[in-house]
Amino acid sequence: MAVYFHGESRNFHLSNDRISYILTVLRNGHLGHLYFGKKLPDRESYNYLLEEALRPMTSNPYEGDRKFSLEHCLQEFPVYGSSDYREPAVEIREGNGSRITDPRFDSYRIYSGKPRLEGLPATYTECPGEAETLEITLRDSVTNVCFILSFTVFRDYDAVARSCKICNNGTEPVHIERIMSFTLDLDDNYYDWIQFSGAWARERFPEKHRLHTGIQSITSARGHSGHMHNPFLILKRPSADEHQGEVFGFSLIYSGNFIIQAEVDTYGTSRIQMGINPFQFSWFLKPGETFTAPEGIATYSSKGMNGLSGIFHQLYRERLIRGIWRDKERPVLINNWEATYFDFDEERLIDIAKKAHSAGIELFVLDDGWFGCRRDDTQGLGDWTPNKNILPDGIAGLSRRIEEECGMKFGLWFEPEMVNKKSVLYETHPDWILQAPYRKSCHGRHQYVLDFSRKDVVDYIYSSMAAVIKESRISYIKWDMNRSITECYSKAYPPEQQGEIFHRYILGVYDLYDRLTTEFPHILFESCASGGGRFDPGMMFYAPQGWTSDDTDAVERLKIQYGTSYCYPLNSMGAHVSIIPNHQLNRSTPLSTRFNTALFGVFGYEMDLTRLSDREFMEIKSQVEFVKEYRTLIHSGTFYRLLSPFENNEAAWMVVSHDKTEAITGYYKILNDVNAGFKRLKLAGLDESFQYTIEGKGIFSGAELMSAGLVINNPPEQDKTASDFRSEIFLLKSQK
Ligand code: DGJ
Repeated sequence: MAVYFHGESRNFHLSNDRISYILTVLRNGHLGHLYFGKKLPDRESYNYLLEEALRPMTSNPYEGDRKFSLEHCLQEFPVYGSSDYREPAVEIREGNGSRITDPRFDSYRIYSGKPRLEGLPATYTECPGEAETLEITLRDSVTNVCFILSFTVFRDYDAVARSCKICNNGTEPVHIERIMSFTLDLDDNYYDWIQFSGAWARERFPEKHRLHTGIQSITSARGHSGHMHNPFLILKRPSADEHQGEVFGFSLIYSGNFIIQAEVDTYGTSRIQMGINPFQFSWFLKPGETFTAPEGIATYSSKGMNGLSGIFHQLYRERLIRGIWRDKERPVLINNWEATYFDFDEERLIDIAKKAHSAGIELFVLDDGWFGCRRDDTQGLGDWTPNKNILPDGIAGLSRRIEEECGMKFGLWFEPEMVNKKSVLYETHPDWILQAPYRKSCHGRHQYVLDFSRKDVVDYIYSSMAAVIKESRISYIKWDMNRSITECYSKAYPPEQQGEIFHRYILGVYDLYDRLTTEFPHILFESCASGGGRFDPGMMFYAPQGWTSDDTDAVERLKIQYGTSYCYPLNSMGAHVSIIPNHQLNRSTPLSTRFNTALFGVFGYEMDLTRLSDREFMEIKSQVEFVKEYRTLIHSGTFYRLLSPFENNEAAWMVVSHDKTEAITGYYKILNDVNAGFKRLKLAGLDESFQYTIEGKGIFSGAELMSAGLVINNPPEQDKTASDFRSEIFLLKSQK
């Protein structure tokens, strides 16, 4: 891995053993883009890739020169209004109203490692030699505003990480109206665009269309990344599939309002951008101040979408998730939400925990309803003091009993960013919610959003959460967020800074996470926003796992987990077995299928085990044993999608250990079919020459399993037990 600089051509070449990213300083001092993809040999100049041609209807910066125009240059940090007409990376509004910026090359430095982003989540390095960073400073000479762009290339991950700092070194304040974290200009448009969209309970369903002329984008303006679109995009060559072909991935490490867009011009080039959504955003930057934009990651794989997911999984698992839980086995948990909702008292919780312990479950999580006057969702949020009517000795007493009497670890639910009007907090501080002057605020689930752009509000919530944590035995926290933001106005800031509040809000969330994870490093955090409404890489920096969706139906979960897996590793996806009929869909699926689906995530239960039959309980006991035996393989191995539930009446996926001696495959047949054909499931990621034993099936070479496939169904007359929603797990073991 290295960053090369060639003085004469002013080319910078970032590469590792597999990828190259090449940029240059253009004639006018702006940054041009030359190449991103499969590794290229280093050479003095790749400037021959730049276009300079006389074209009608172009504008040209140099008098007398009709060949150089920014409109026809691939660029790294484009601006609008000085011969480029496409969407810019940055827009600065000066005091005089001008929006023209001229970011010219000023200096560069190359160093080992990777910078931290102040107050923001980002990938990191741990040991020397893992990454190299190129830092380029561009300067606008009229305002003396500088743009410090960082490009990091990793030794072990085929990804380029970018971020940008804007420093106002001038004497006048400016407004930042737009700042993109990553711009990548591709030289053609022959790509499929795949976004991950949905809604509550059906998050991150892949949607594909051919890239077309004009602008296409996914965004959030809800104050969180959202259920509707995920800050992740795949561009793939139309012929690429899960196993082969060229694929790019774009992921923004941010949890607030975002945009990812592609602008395809009429010359067939494609400008991909990601960053803070410029809609409703502006930042007032005074002289001497700096603004840091979130980090964007772009990856490249020539091994199809499974190859691309493998890069993201490894990078995020190893160099985004932090703390002791990064490398530790995640506990099997039981959460009381779908078991009791608000209808519980201490003894009911203890009964469930005792039963769960006897099934081998390790962590008991108390969900919503334990604090203030909360007995339903209309009241109590904001008052993080235990309700002594239901928990006589508070969380301190309950957590002690869970540990001592039930032999389990204890976890607790919070929704720190919210308040109900019926609460002591709102009565005391009605001005602490986001609210426009002289106007009413919308509620969502009867709750209002606390103004996390204010330090005093974050300080208060920190103190009340820390007080509960300190007096109790808490090993896990589920951090929920159950509504989107409206009326985003803060009474604490002047008019010219109101465009900052959405971003300042999310900085406040990160700040609270940072304080809690620093002060209580032993606690495992799980992020949640009405299920998967803030399932993004920004959250993963603080909370190693996220609640993937409120939908716990096994069939729907196949789709949700399948879609989520394109970017996010299995050890980040909370996945629970719940009771039937399912609470979201009323569907009944076999316990085995609920288990076989949740197994490929961070595993847990969401049911009252005391109400199960003996047979069901025994089945759960052996499920827990199985998880304990295979969770390390599932969470650290390489994941492959095999059959998509979006395209078939079946689904399949598998995980292969790093040394390829072990693998686990999940196969799911959604609806039973009559007189079905013989099925061969082609596996992936194995060693062709290894002999794998599959219990109940036989011994097969990796080559056979990957090319001929594993025969998974019996002829119908032999398979009398088959019904809808069936599934099977296959374990593969080999001696080297
Ligand atoms: C939404 C979450 O997604 C659920 O799991 C549960 O914690 C409820 N909130 C509690 O209000």
